Amino acid sequence: MLRQQVSLDGEDVPYLYGVDVTEDLVAAMADLAVTADLVLVVRDRQVTEHAAAVLHGVSETVRVATMTVDAGEQRKTLSLVEDIVEFAIRQGASRSTVVVAMGGGMVGNVAGLAAALLFRGIRLVHLPTTPIAAFDSVLSVKQAVNLRGGKNLCGTYHAPSLIACDLRWLTTVPHDQILTGLAEMVKNVLAVVPERRLDLERALGGLGDAPATALLDLLDIGCTAKAPYLRTDPRERHEALVFEYGHTMGHALEFVSEGRIGHGEAIGWGMLVAAEISHSLGHLDRDGLALHHRLVGRLHLSPASTGPGALDPGRIRTVLARDNKRGYLSCAPDEVPMVLLKAPGHVVTGERGRPLVPVPMDLAMSALETVVGTAPVPSGTLPRLERLGTS
Ligand SMILES: NC(=O)c1ccc[n+]([C@@H]2O[C@H](COP(=O)([O-])OP(=O)(O)OC[C@H]3O[C@@H](n4cnc5c(N)ncnc54)[C@H](O)[C@@H]3O)[C@@H](O)[C@H]2O)c1
Repeated sequence: MLRQQVSLDGEDVPYLYGVDVTEDLVAAMADLAVTADLVLVVRDRQVTEHAAAVLHGVSETVRVATMTVDAGEQRKTLSLVEDIVEFAIRQGASRSTVVVAMGGGMVGNVAGLAAALLFRGIRLVHLPTTPIAAFDSVLSVKQAVNLRGGKNLCGTYHAPSLIACDLRWLTTVPHDQILTGLAEMVKNVLAVVPERRLDLERALGGLGDAPATALLDLLDIGCTAKAPYLRTDPRERHEALVFEYGHTMGHALEFVSEGRIGHGEAIGWGMLVAAEISHSLGHLDRDGLALHHRLVGRLHLSPASTGPGALDPGRIRTVLARDNKRGYLSCAPDEVPMVLLKAPGHVVTGERGRPLVPVPMDLAMSALETVVGTAPVPSGTLPRLERLGTS
């Protein structure tokens, strides 16, 4: 089992991971749970089988109550958070209860918010089961849910006490979601650690033949990119806003498509739009733009015609106008806050040194049109994570 120490909101949080390490992870959870009266496991229905070994192991140490949830952006709501906290109270939860979130980023966020609200904050353990969750969303203290008006509009900050992942869990993630789920890693490389781009390309290429090594490398890239920012800006309000790269347009596409365009895929499109805007403003050169298309091309996005090209531009504008980064900078009603790169690894800085600048709405929409018309050609082959462990 491998271990990284991640600084989250001032706390040093262990991230334990490896392939086929569930027993070790359960032992680490038992150490934590020994001071708990109850472990409340909120698990994604799709990971019921993976959860069985965890539940069995932890229940030898402490009482366990399990709540199963169906993932999906439509259900990432305050009402689901309310169901979780009401369930917790019915089960006799107290300040010493530990909430365990086992699933993708959606379960991590709803259970994370529930843990933050119960008794004004109880312990949280993340057991991520998707690439986005394992490589990205658990490396954050942001816990939010969607409102009718937009994504992640309501939430707070809450750090986990432990993060633990058996990469074997990722092998059952639906095939077509694997590479798009890696979009956040492409983002980290483009925006923060461009020196790791060859490692990223090697890992993306290796997912088919040597998936265990590739997944371990991807997790390492995620931690390397995020760790310094989590130390200096744990609440992601200043320099760590760089991790919002591709997210302004990405969130709008994900929201307007009602989740049909998944988060990672939406971020892939969002990064291409941001690169197009930056190029048209004279910041990003042709090589930078080409690197975006090369790396995003590895993600196998769905065709533009059935993805962003099929969405109502009017609705995209409406959602962009409510982007949750508004307020970090002065932005006119016809402008949207965006992270732009002047070169890979170098942001365009705006007010108070933040990596956020106002972009005219019309420019954002015309860049989207250009990107839809010049969609990247997928390269490489889709990986088969089922072969994990054969390397
Ligand atoms: N807090 C943050 O900083 C942060 C960062 C990135 C993303 N997010 C959030 O994470 C969410 C996206 O994450 P996601 O893609 O993991 O979404 P998700 O949790 O909705 O999972 C995607 C799909 O995979 C299924 N699934 C999960 N694990 C599985 C497994 N091991 N085998 C088979 N199926 C499995 C789920 O049931 C769901 O259908 C979004 O809501 C996004 O806003 C949060």
